[in-house]
Amino acid sequence: MPKPAIPLEELKAQACQCHACELGQTRTNLVFGVGDERARVMIVGEAPGKNEDLQGEPFVGAAGKYLDELLGYAGLNREDVYIANVLKCRPPGNRNPRPEEIEACAPFLREQTRTINPQVIITLGNFATKFILKTDRGITGLRGTVQRAGRFVVVPVFHPAAAIYDRSKRPLLEDDFRMIGRMLAGGE
Ligand code: URA
Repeated sequence: MPKPAIPLEELKAQACQCHACELGQTRTNLVFGVGDERARVMIVGEAPGKNEDLQGEPFVGAAGKYLDELLGYAGLNREDVYIANVLKCRPPGNRNPRPEEIEACAPFLREQTRTINPQVIITLGNFATKFILKTDRGITGLRGTVQRAGRFVVVPVFHPAAAIYDRSKRPLLEDDFRMIGRMLAGGE
């Protein structure tokens, strides 16, 4: 028999107690996730940045503003999706997540995914894509493709922060969200 799904509130309470890695000592707020518990689409980012750490919510800074715009290309808005990150606590100075931090935090994202049970997971950037697809392949080769991880359809795309930094990524990223919109509408 499969394990019963753990309610998100209960998972969040567990995460707030977590000091399994050093990031638990430097965070201002844990950033668990936000959105519709029964969402058809789940978005997975990398880790909270400065604004997210201060507000306790994912994607509230510049990358979040652009993410809202990208969701629009897919005919979605924030209320339609659930947004979470691989890491729930901010790495100081926004450095990359370390393997031991990803491993320590993994049970939370795994359980979030099981509880929400989305149809489609959009992975933003390398860290989320590698985690969800259990692959070493990079985002440049995988972006815009439709993959599977168990019962989930997975679409890896560039991280919006990467496209803010490098504008040449924007048309591809925006096209990928348009494709996701068509796929959700049953056309692809
Ligand atoms: N970048 C991420 O990957 N996640 C956030 O929550 C904010 C910026």
